[in-house]
Amino acid sequence: MSFSTLVRRVENELERRIDAGIESEGRLSQAMRYAVFNGGKRLRPLLVYACGETLDLPVERLDAPACAVELIHCYSLVHDDLPAMDDDDLRRGRPTTHLAYDEATAILAGDALQALAFQVLAQDGRLHHQSPAGCGMIAELASACGVSGMAGGQARDLELEHKQPDQATVETMFRMKTGALIRAAVMMPTALAPDLPSTQIQALREFGEEIGLAFQIRDDLLDVEGKTEVIGKQAGADQALGKANWPELFGIEGARRRIDELDARARAALDRVERDTSGLHKLADRLLHRAT
Ligand code: IPE
Ligand code: IPE
Ligand code: MG
Ligand code: MG
Ligand code: MG
Repeated sequence: MSFSTLVRRVENELERRIDAGIESEGRLSQAMRYAVFNGGKRLRPLLVYACGETLDLPVERLDAPACAVELIHCYSLVHDDLPAMDDDDLRRGRPTTHLAYDEATAILAGDALQALAFQVLAQDGRLHHQSPAGCGMIAELASACGVSGMAGGQARDLELEHKQPDQATVETMFRMKTGALIRAAVMMPTALAPDLPSTQIQALREFGEEIGLAFQIRDDLLDVEGKTEVIGKQAGADQALGKANWPELFGIEGARRRIDELDARARAALDRVERDTSGLHKLADRLLHRAT
């Protein structure tokens, strides 16, 4: 399936699952929809589908993890934009959720999207006959968004504002705040392939980790070089906030070289997966060389 078909697929699946998960209409559920249906690139669901294709899994079994990872991502963006964090006005070309609604509603919408992500995974009928797989995916996603993953990375991001951290410190923070969820998108389908040798699981994990770090360096480059109208968020926001932005700390050319280096490592890892990884290769191009 083409990427555009898969993007449409996950949008429909998200609609269906959000409708099923929301019991009463109100301001909170409107804010949840606002935070999800707003033109995101859906790269994490695409990673789930592409990894599933590599593992020869039927696409229907990938819908729940694809939706769950996007719901977590959308929640993370709502909270990332809050005044207490990055205090951003613009997201995906529209006012951020706390401006379109209010701060309390945005906090709660993030909370509720996170809960819905786990509900979607836990309730998926197609996983029930294979509960170790369901539990494996839940564990993967939970560790990616908790204290050792996204939330922990976001805390470090705030601690590093207005400091001059070294490259290793910045990259550890990037691997946590952004890389962990990207790695989880790659890893969740492996829970559905119990016979996959551990060396190939490890190779996929490495692929996810390297593109995850490179993805955040690319995001930092876009913050420095991109235009607000194109990236759909305020360009130059990192410098204004004193964020640990990779190219600002270590140079624009260095950032490009580092992305290429991580890209090469990610592809070398993929080459150790003895399957058709062409979809993952194509997606790595899209993730690391994107203009938005
Ligand atoms: C932006 O992620 C936030 C980061 C983790 C760097 P994306 O660039 O995937 O954002 P959307 O989902 O397409 O808006
Ligand atoms: C975001 O990093 C990481 C998240 C966990 C959401 P950024 O703060 O750089 O993301 P953008 O630039 O606001 O999308
Ligand atoms: Mg941030
Ligand atoms: Mg931000
Ligand atoms: Mg950014």
